[in-house]
Amino acid sequence: MLSRRSFLKQVSGVVAAVEVFPRSLWAQDNPVHVPGKEGMIVRSARFLDLEMPMDVLKTWITPVPHFFVRNHMHEPSTLDPSTWILTISGEVEQPLTLSLADLKKLEPHSVINTLECAGNGRAFQQPHVPGVQWERGAVGTARFSGPRMRDLLQRARVKNTGKHVMLRGLDEVPGKVPAFIRSIPLEKATDADTLVALEMNNGPLAKHHGFPARAFVPGWIGAASCKWLTEIKVLDKEFEGNFMKPGYRMPNQPVQPGADVNPDDTHPITALNVKSIIADPIDNSIVRSRSVHVHGAAWAGEADVARVEISTDGGSTWQPAQLGREQSKYTWRLWNYSWRAPRSGEYTILSRAADSHGRTQPQTAAWNPSGYLYNVVDQVKIHVQA
Ligand code: MTE
Repeated sequence: MLSRRSFLKQVSGVVAAVEVFPRSLWAQDNPVHVPGKEGMIVRSARFLDLEMPMDVLKTWITPVPHFFVRNHMHEPSTLDPSTWILTISGEVEQPLTLSLADLKKLEPHSVINTLECAGNGRAFQQPHVPGVQWERGAVGTARFSGPRMRDLLQRARVKNTGKHVMLRGLDEVPGKVPAFIRSIPLEKATDADTLVALEMNNGPLAKHHGFPARAFVPGWIGAASCKWLTEIKVLDKEFEGNFMKPGYRMPNQPVQPGADVNPDDTHPITALNVKSIIADPIDNSIVRSRSVHVHGAAWAGEADVARVEISTDGGSTWQPAQLGREQSKYTWRLWNYSWRAPRSGEYTILSRAADSHGRTQPQTAAWNPSGYLYNVVDQVKIHVQA
């Protein structure tokens, strides 16, 4: 068995040996040091899952060190950019094999996007659902750059039979776990903003975020944006593997919390919901002034955030929060709200966003067995001591 020290050293790279470590060790504290990701909440060390703590959500663009990481399996152990290739095949007239140098020669395009894991907020689902217990921070905003996926598909000349675009990463698949392969409809793959991203925040993609290339599907759940991309295959129908069905689907009708759902009565999740989160004050914190500065972020996938409202009286009355100036399509708006607590005591602060599609955050979750797309009105409890 590995010593704790040698294990910790390995986490930044490939963590194949981690499985021999008792899982209970991870539950006790956060002993894992991931270089470049200091201060992140470790939700899983077996397959690296890192959540952004709310106290670092201060900027519109999330610095890479604070950007969440969601891995379903082990990251590739060796990735030599000089030998890495991307193949494009399937329902195309001209299959292609491209090197990183080939991709870099193509015209790049940049899109700023709020990327959120479909399971963000799962920890708040009642009754409890299995899976990574994300609270608020499996979300971040970054600028992604690289050639448009449609330019690559145009070169490959998609046949009329092409309907879906399958994306495969170079993850190292342990044991019997099915490979992380998903597909997106051709229409979204050929959208002008869908990319094969080579850069994040103006630098090469970090390994945890898919170096050297990842699919980038703005406005959609993070699972659409396949990391360590190595294969694009045009299919005549949706891909049918585990991560398309039963994974990443929502029930067609509302279901009773805790009920079983027949996968045939579900549909794939695509775009993100409207959602706001309170970053400050932190839930269950003591605020030592009656002047309370509340701030957070709100996003709406392919739609725009129309407004954010705050309630300090349990939802009886709502006041508009001030939206930050920085904005672009697919990205969150930072917001803030200044409030004077009438006296010391316990308070609950609520935030709710509405978007350009007329959607608002619900009071109760659309419960589903995997806890996807949780977007209930956010709330934090604070104790004002002044
Ligand atoms: N791509 C591969 N190859 N393997 C994965 O496990 N996880 C997906 C997606 N792309 C994943 C992947 C999920 S569920 C999310 S939310 C995003 O990557 C997270 O991207 P990030 O780790 O760069 O934040």
